Amino acid sequence: MILGILGSGSGSNMQAILDAIAAGSLNARIALVLSDNPDAFILERARHHGITTGLIDCRGFKTRFPAEAQQETAARLQAAGVNLVCLAGFLRLVKHPLLDVFPNQIINIHPSLLPAFPGLESWQQALAAGVAETGCTVHVVDVGMDTGPIILQQSVPILPGDSPASLHARIQEAEHRLYPAAISKLAAARSEIEPG
Ligand code: GRF
Repeated sequence: MILGILGSGSGSNMQAILDAIAAGSLNARIALVLSDNPDAFILERARHHGITTGLIDCRGFKTRFPAEAQQETAARLQAAGVNLVCLAGFLRLVKHPLLDVFPNQIINIHPSLLPAFPGLESWQQALAAGVAETGCTVHVVDVGMDTGPIILQQSVPILPGDSPASLHARIQEAEHRLYPAAISKLAAARSEIEPG
């Protein structure tokens, strides 16, 4: 698997993917890391590992991912030979044309047991709903928000006295195991379709 990662923040999930590759539990390579945020720590982490990085120019839009920027992103990912795009804390909705260039080849990690609590701050939504457990999900990205087919999920308990921060930290621990496992699962499925 040749991975391209899109992220806007800390990049702890990208780090978990790198750690799984280094440990030999994930057969993949990260070819390119792109961010819409020049100050995102994910870029620093990637550079530290000698991975090519780049900035996505969203033309001054705060939340939109304009079509021109998606086209440029697709071209850079293709030029790097990427065959699986991993969203890791990327804060813009990916739509067309990027989805057309990588059909069923863009995946995302979300901090809830989808379809419960899509959208922002899902751990906060879970606390407010008073549920006993939440979790995380890796899914294929489609045109909806957090709606694509689910690849893997992991549940996480909500403990008495949990704050949003403590719950989010527990979910992130689970994410760091789940994301590499989901990529491995996809790699195994692809090698069954294309043996050798
Ligand atoms: C994760 O909690 C993920 O579920 C959400 O954004 C966060 C990214 O964290 N989509 P990081 O940048 O990987 O540390």
